[in-house]
Amino acid sequence: MSTETVTIIDDTTGKKVQLPLLSPTRGPKTIDIGTLYKELGYFTYDPGFMSTASCSSGITFLDGDKGVLQYRGYAIEQLAEHSSYLEVCYLLIKGDLPNRQELDEFVHDITHHTMLHEALKRFFSGFRRDAHPMAIMVGVVGALAAFYHEHMDIHNPEHREISAHRLIAKMPTIAAWSYRYAMGKPFIYPVNNLSYTENFLHMMFSMPTEPFTPDPLLAKALDLILILHADHEQNASTSTVRLAGSSDANPFAAVAAGIAALWGPAHGGANEAVIRMLMDINESGKPLQAFVDRAKDKKDSFRLMGFGHRVYKNYDPRATLIRDICHQLLSDMESSGEHQKLLDTAMALEKVALEDDYFVQRNLYPNVDFYSGIIFLAMGIPMNMFTVIFAMARTVGWITQWDEMMSDPTSKIGRPRQLYTGLIDLEYVPLEKR
Ligand code: SDX
Repeated sequence: MSTETVTIIDDTTGKKVQLPLLSPTRGPKTIDIGTLYKELGYFTYDPGFMSTASCSSGITFLDGDKGVLQYRGYAIEQLAEHSSYLEVCYLLIKGDLPNRQELDEFVHDITHHTMLHEALKRFFSGFRRDAHPMAIMVGVVGALAAFYHEHMDIHNPEHREISAHRLIAKMPTIAAWSYRYAMGKPFIYPVNNLSYTENFLHMMFSMPTEPFTPDPLLAKALDLILILHADHEQNASTSTVRLAGSSDANPFAAVAAGIAALWGPAHGGANEAVIRMLMDINESGKPLQAFVDRAKDKKDSFRLMGFGHRVYKNYDPRATLIRDICHQLLSDMESSGEHQKLLDTAMALEKVALEDDYFVQRNLYPNVDFYSGIIFLAMGIPMNMFTVIFAMARTVGWITQWDEMMSDPTSKIGRPRQLYTGLIDLEYVPLEKR
């Protein structure tokens, strides 16, 4: 462990505090401020965690300046080119790539956990038909905790592993059934001779009345999308899962909390917001610059959805890969003019924005959500399902980060402090005197 330190001097008292400076494998060195309050009597203040590491982790590495993303040390570009989503799930959970036998066993295990308890079907019918599928997913995933009492010892690694497998396996079924319920269509059960993404497309789009073969092009494109969304360091939803899990809550409750956090349009809900923005632009007939100018206007709450990122101050490497998938899929599918028009508008918007000083100076580039919605539309997936698919993909990241935290004997319940700015020491005023 490094012996480097940073010294903080309190200018008011002259008191000095030496704090350990921790060295990462890669990335910024990190000041361990754990003893600061005890030694100096001060808190640190960083509401959006702009400069704060909430944990140490060996799962995913980001370099926002260089646009680098690595899962367990493997570059996202290599995994996108050579791997599969379930192989990436194994890599994230186990820490290294599987051999053939390990992969086959993992895929077999996931495949044989895709069914939901029959009683869970009744949960869906409790929702209105127009319920947003994210609302259904939050509810049903949280309810999974009611079905697995025999594997809920979160301090037992085997229980944590089977919970992880159950969540990864059941998310596509829950996602597809959320859609089927909204459409008033019968639930389609998973089948074991299909791949993970073929099974999802089967449960989404097949009908009992006729044979259905998932399009291999769509299954491959979706598998790639899931790889690119699988994990992303300590983003808002992953941090939510860690904080919820730090109270020793069960993994289903912690992941349900992560799904809720992902729903926001500033986070995983952006992919749906991007398509609504592109459609508004196309329908408005106004020049793109008008929308770019609105995004720059501080008096206007409008932002270019799918642009900007807390960490990436360069291209989000996932956005580049998704844009390529988008081009390929639309040309392979000879997609409808509607989808091509959305892609054309997205590409034109990217060009206009990236030549505008406001965006250049703030390092605002397209992020993972900017192009993904166009692909989902081309697959026939409705807008309100986009974030559901993001949640399906990110489940492995959430549960892996949770497991890493629960495996750490030094982990504690997360309990931030505050900078109190309210009133203090008031005397109670009787009602008749107010
Ligand atoms: C995801 O964290 C992750 O890793 C998330 C994610 C993952 O895989 O888990 O990558 C997935 O959530 C991607 C982000 C999806 N969200 C959007 O596309 C929504 C639009 N983007 C913004 O809301 C924003 O860029 C955030 C939320 C993504 C990042 O916000 P920050 O880091 O808090 O930055 P900020 O709001 O302080 O913005 C800095 C400046 C501000 O201007 P100034 O005050 O400096 O003048 O940039 C401006 C902002 O107004 N700005 C934008 C903008 N994003 C930031 N201006 C116009 N349009 C935008 N999209």
